[in-house]
Amino acid sequence: MSNSSTNNHFKVIAVTNQKGGVGKTSVSVNLALTLQTLGKRVAIFDADFGMANSHILLGVNPSHTLSDVLNGSMSMKDIMCRGPKDIAILSGGSGLLDMLNVDPAGRYQAIRMIDQIKDEIDVLIVDVPAGASDNSVSFVSASDRALVVLVGEPTSFLDAYSFIKACHLETGLSDFTVVVNMASNEAEAKKHFDKFNAIAMQFLDVRLRFGGHVPFSQRIRKSIIDRKPIALQKTDLPEVNAFRTIAKRVLDAPMNTAKGIRFFDQGTKGEG
Ligand SMILES: Nc1ncnc2c1ncn2[C@@H]1O[C@H](COP(=O)(O)OP(=O)(O)OP(=O)(O)O)[C@@H](O)[C@H]1O
Ligand SMILES: [Mg+2]
Repeated sequence: MSNSSTNNHFKVIAVTNQKGGVGKTSVSVNLALTLQTLGKRVAIFDADFGMANSHILLGVNPSHTLSDVLNGSMSMKDIMCRGPKDIAILSGGSGLLDMLNVDPAGRYQAIRMIDQIKDEIDVLIVDVPAGASDNSVSFVSASDRALVVLVGEPTSFLDAYSFIKACHLETGLSDFTVVVNMASNEAEAKKHFDKFNAIAMQFLDVRLRFGGHVPFSQRIRKSIIDRKPIALQKTDLPEVNAFRTIAKRVLDAPMNTAKGIRFFDQGTKGEG
């Protein structure tokens, strides 16, 4: 304990992929709950503005959203609500009124205003919307670890590849942790990862690490319908173990060294 090299500063993990429906939100929520179980204080920033749904998986109904912050009427602390295990949620809002067209100034404001919850959390998980919009790429490059969720299909590979390429070319981001969702087992997921990694390494100067797998599971399906995340269920389930492995690997992953604005600043100098 005494000469531990544990790094206690903030960790910001962006959960991402260009493709919709691959399990970004379900990974975000279960990873968040797993980290909370491992003793971290975790917040989820649901950056899927207007279509935020991580609160639905968590079974909570936030009364306020990021639009209340961006219109100046509330602080981040005001909109922060608590879910199971006391996890904190910052909702991007769902519904037409919350359909924010967040421009660079709004993104900058949102990222800086999240500093307000600095003393209350150890890890921020950013549920990044599908697509390779400026919003998605900026939130990933503002995080210190990028976790790409893919499924073992060629179309998913193509989307993940395009997203990694966009992030890399636009921001210089080079380190990514890849999690294979809806896999049969760890060995099959690792095969998918190796195949994907070989393609990426051939064309891009990036470093990908295997972050593990989430099994394809009817229990996960049901947990979403029941609004009771799998990570809150029996600790000896394979799904729960899989999230524990992912949590450890992602915390161990190298820091993002891309330039530009960062959540919590983290000692990185932005340009300009
Ligand atoms: N490991 C899994 N096993 C079985 N079904 C899964 C698994 N992960 C996700 N799903 C199914 O896929 C659906 C989509 O998952 P989720 O909402 O997390 O994806 P997403 O990438 O966040 O989607 P969007 O792009 O719309 O935000 C879930 O509602 C669930 O039914
Ligand atoms: Mg989602």
